[in-house]
Amino acid sequence: MISLQHLHKTFSGASGAVRALDDVSIEVAERQIFGVVGQSGAGKSTLIRTVNLLERPDSGTVAVDGRDLLGLDAQGLRAARHDIGMVFQQFNLLQGRTARGNVELALEIAGVDRVERRRRAGEILDLVGLSSRADSYPAQLSGGQKQRVGIARALASNPKVLLSDEATSALDPETMRSILELIRTIRDELGLTVLLITHEMDVIKRICDSAALLESGRIVEQGRLADVITTPGSRLAADLFPLHDLPPDVSGTVVDITFSGGSADRPVIAQLARTHGFDVSILGAAIETIAGKQAGRTRLEIPGSGTAVDAAIADLRSQDLLVEVIHTPSRAAS
Ligand SMILES: Nc1ncnc2c1ncn2[C@@H]1O[C@H](COP(=O)(O)OP(=O)(O)O)[C@@H](O)[C@H]1O
Ligand SMILES: [Mg+2]
Repeated sequence: MISLQHLHKTFSGASGAVRALDDVSIEVAERQIFGVVGQSGAGKSTLIRTVNLLERPDSGTVAVDGRDLLGLDAQGLRAARHDIGMVFQQFNLLQGRTARGNVELALEIAGVDRVERRRRAGEILDLVGLSSRADSYPAQLSGGQKQRVGIARALASNPKVLLSDEATSALDPETMRSILELIRTIRDELGLTVLLITHEMDVIKRICDSAALLESGRIVEQGRLADVITTPGSRLAADLFPLHDLPPDVSGTVVDITFSGGSADRPVIAQLARTHGFDVSILGAAIETIAGKQAGRTRLEIPGSGTAVDAAIADLRSQDLLVEVIHTPSRAAS
């Protein structure tokens, strides 16, 4: 539904040229929630703004619903933008208009008549759970309610695609969760395709089907979360399972075992101790619901190293578990 290919964008700043996008390609399938995560300055806003051409890339292609946006004239682009709604971190509501007025404005611009505007705004405010606050002004609404207005406004023209630029970053954790749930619900009910950007892994974990990691304008990793968590060496997976750093005095072999789907409830650790006679220590564990499924990562220390440990690791791998060796004792220590 959204296809960005080989995007490049360089800004000339005070201290020289900034390469905001450096050969970025992503594909977002219909009805997917795709998250781009990265630190401040990574190029996330620049990337999402290319999707509706608020930002024009220097080179590359932008296609939404099969339409090549860079090839459209002004009128064609205006029409294409009706299919793309956008929400912002700072809500960007007009203070002098009520919730309903803000939603109606989007329809006014689209040339929808007064009666239909009223009807549509009521319907969409109901969808986002704000019918009772339709006549409130932004200053009378909480952050979460303001973002609900922002989402309603984005949905007013019945878009196929919703873009979210850090929509939950200004909200407290509980409100963040309720807004993310709302985004998922509207995806399900309206069949929307969602591209969101965030600096928070928690957002990715809660609602995304797929994710990409953006660093200094480059995509360093991307994929479906279900695949990412079982990809050896995945940085996204490491961020999804927050485990502490290794203690400095670790003396054995340390492995991270990732459980997903069916392997999540097998007594793997007990079996390792029983079959191989190891006195295994658990250094850390994280259980997460990722893309709607339970998955976990456990960090174990197996004493020593050598063939017995290798055999135990091979045994774990034969059980279809992702096993990553993250520390091997030096010869002197073992
Ligand atoms: N209009 C602009 N002019 C000059 N530099 C810009 C402009 N927009 C963004 N940048 C620079 O491009 C880089 C990426 O910015 P941005 O896409 O906003 O990152 P993010 O959203 O990940 O924080 C940053 O170094 C930023 O300073
Ligand atoms: Mg940004």
